Amino acid sequence: MRRYHVTTFGCQMNAHDSERIKGLLEELGLGEAPNQDEADVLVFNTCTIREKPDTRLAAHLGNARMLKEQDPGRVIAVGGCYAEAQRDRIFETYPFVDVAFGPGSIPHLAEWLGAGGEGVARGAFGTAEERAFAGRLPMHRERRFQAWVQISMGCNSVCAYCIVPAVRGREVSRRPGEILAEVERLAAQGVREITLLGQNVNSYGRDVGSDFSELLRACDAVEGVERIRFTSPHPKDFRAPVIAAMADCQAVCEHAHLPLQSGSTRILKAMRRTYSRERYLRLVDELRAAIPDLALTTDLIVGFPGETEAEFEQTVSAVEEVGYDGAFTFVYSPRQGTEAAAMPGQVPEAVKRERIERLVEVVQRIGERRNRGRVGRIEEVLVEGPSRTDEALLRGRTRRNTTVVFTGDVQPGELVQVRIEDATSATLRGVELAAVAA
Ligand code: 5AD
Ligand code: SF4
Repeated sequence: MRRYHVTTFGCQMNAHDSERIKGLLEELGLGEAPNQDEADVLVFNTCTIREKPDTRLAAHLGNARMLKEQDPGRVIAVGGCYAEAQRDRIFETYPFVDVAFGPGSIPHLAEWLGAGGEGVARGAFGTAEERAFAGRLPMHRERRFQAWVQISMGCNSVCAYCIVPAVRGREVSRRPGEILAEVERLAAQGVREITLLGQNVNSYGRDVGSDFSELLRACDAVEGVERIRFTSPHPKDFRAPVIAAMADCQAVCEHAHLPLQSGSTRILKAMRRTYSRERYLRLVDELRAAIPDLALTTDLIVGFPGETEAEFEQTVSAVEEVGYDGAFTFVYSPRQGTEAAAMPGQVPEAVKRERIERLVEVVQRIGERRNRGRVGRIEEVLVEGPSRTDEALLRGRTRRNTTVVFTGDVQPGELVQVRIEDATSATLRGVELAAVAA
């Protein structure tokens, strides 16, 4: 049997795309190889959001080239955002690549690969014009009780730093009926937690006569779905009906990942985020007033062109003011073709480094304080498996999306009550309640 291996870079949308790619390859009769070296078909599902994933990909492709030299029958396919961004150059830069495809062209992959990888259309490229939802493709999921559900593709925002709109195209919503049918199917298969995925989930539905609050309520009504998450919302489109739906729907988790990017209104404007610091903070107040015990996480960028020391300090103070449970912090990385890449006032690398170190320290300090506040509480945990560092312990996540490492005797997929006994900046430690009683 011919075997495939998929290497995934980037965000959850990409991870979900990889589930479709794997499902499709399995339908073509291929089996999964444990690593790149043992695979006949190597797929790289790429990301190009910052320079770092580009460099990591280059290293992986170096290995792929070597493997292909050993066995020219191997097929190398490069998909995802980097492939789309580099579409004119990819075969030039990496002549050993057989097939390249953008993030929207997964449904066409079978045509280029041929059944079982025979008769590969070398040099084929799936273009953004062929974009289609992969919703009808089979899906190879990592866990039987958790699933991602794509609700839209593309992005209509024009954030000055971001390459995504250029590579994933204009926003298109998936029909609500189709999404619900998928959620019902997943629930019937035993899925208890779903994560709705879109580049901007709050703008969902305008083009299909629906909206995100309706979608949340409809998903909440599906029997068996006990946890609903979503990522990412854009603060500019986070309106009252969605907040109300979050508050009303039992299954919707008490967590919002709300990308702030910068705490400075001037920088936010230059980024074209279309909200000010004040408006963002108001939204946080509204969310917290409606949803008790809400966890908030965010994305932050340091060193956007023109960012002064004082403006950076405003990002630090926003982190303190909001009191985030966690944050992804990024050094601004110029992406060719974006508005910001051509802006004057690019911040020197050393300054960016120094700023991100300071920011990470604050994020961790605040995260630890937030987590310490959970000690002594009982949290509902969805068990995911053994702890990564200690096989004797279990790992799972709370409704607020914090990782918990705990002692207990339960199976992955179960929901259990855990008493929280200790906390670090990123994890909680605890004991399963039944075990406490025993
Ligand atoms: N440089 C650094 N970070 C970026 N992000 C997006 N584009 C860039 C860039 N050019 C970050 C944003 C976004 C997250 C997914 O990646 O914070 O929310
Ligand atoms: Fe995801 Fe953006 Fe990376 Fe594409 S470029 S994989 S959308 S993070």
